[in-house]
Amino acid sequence: MTIHPVTLIGGGPGAWDLITLRGARALEEAEVILTDHLGPELSRIVDVRDKEVIDVAKLPYGRSVAQEETNRLLVEYALAGRKVARLKGGDPFVFGRGFEEVQHLTAHGVACEVIPGVTSAVSVPAAAGVPVTHRGVTHAFTVVSGHVAPGEGLVDWSALARVGGSIVVVMGVRHVAAITAALIGAGLPRDTPATAVMEGTTLAQRSVTGSVETLAADMTRAEISSPAVYVIGEVARL
Ligand SMILES: C[S@@+](CC[C@H](N)C(=O)[O-])C[C@H]1O[C@@H](n2cnc3c(N)ncnc32)[C@H](O)[C@@H]1O
Repeated sequence: MTIHPVTLIGGGPGAWDLITLRGARALEEAEVILTDHLGPELSRIVDVRDKEVIDVAKLPYGRSVAQEETNRLLVEYALAGRKVARLKGGDPFVFGRGFEEVQHLTAHGVACEVIPGVTSAVSVPAAAGVPVTHRGVTHAFTVVSGHVAPGEGLVDWSALARVGGSIVVVMGVRHVAAITAALIGAGLPRDTPATAVMEGTTLAQRSVTGSVETLAADMTRAEISSPAVYVIGEVARL
């Protein structure tokens, strides 16, 4: 029996045609596909009727398949000789736990091919007209996870306030008030522009622009909920 490498595919931010050609080809060749809740609608890309599709989504603060179970399934199907594709939203290595899956497969003797994807950190702001860099405006952008409140995670928010480039926050809806307060408290000017974008690149896309001081209230008023990305920095004014 041949053991095929598992293909870990970045599906892009949501619009079905923002997956790479290589990623779409790998989906076509797969017999078993493990999917997440973010990223492209699978049935827009391939005919799923002759494939086994398994939803292993982890919904934020909701229904969730444990990462250990996903890891176990990947190995089990691969060792059974099936052609397995693992489809993730955005890029698999940007807050996607993709490398944990590579490590687990490798530890069990299964090779893994990684196909990068278009990350929401850059493409979602772009879909709302915000470039994360712009000549003469900013020469840096930092992508940061806001899934835990300032002071509880690994991010040094006060250092970020001094970096001077664009700050792109993913998974930061719940803690937006605490995050913006931490940045302002560390010296980021209150009138620094900020844009939040929900469901970027999809038909449900919605965005709001204000300042770092007003962002939390702006998002509430505009009913911006997860999944959303916000960008804090001069680029949001462009
Ligand atoms: C677990 S992270 C995965 C990120 C993904 N690996 C990537 O590279 O885009 C999920 C977060 O990505 C952001 N995200 C992903 N797709 C999005 C979209 N279409 N619109 C807005 N935010 C999105 C949201 O912040 C969401 O909470």
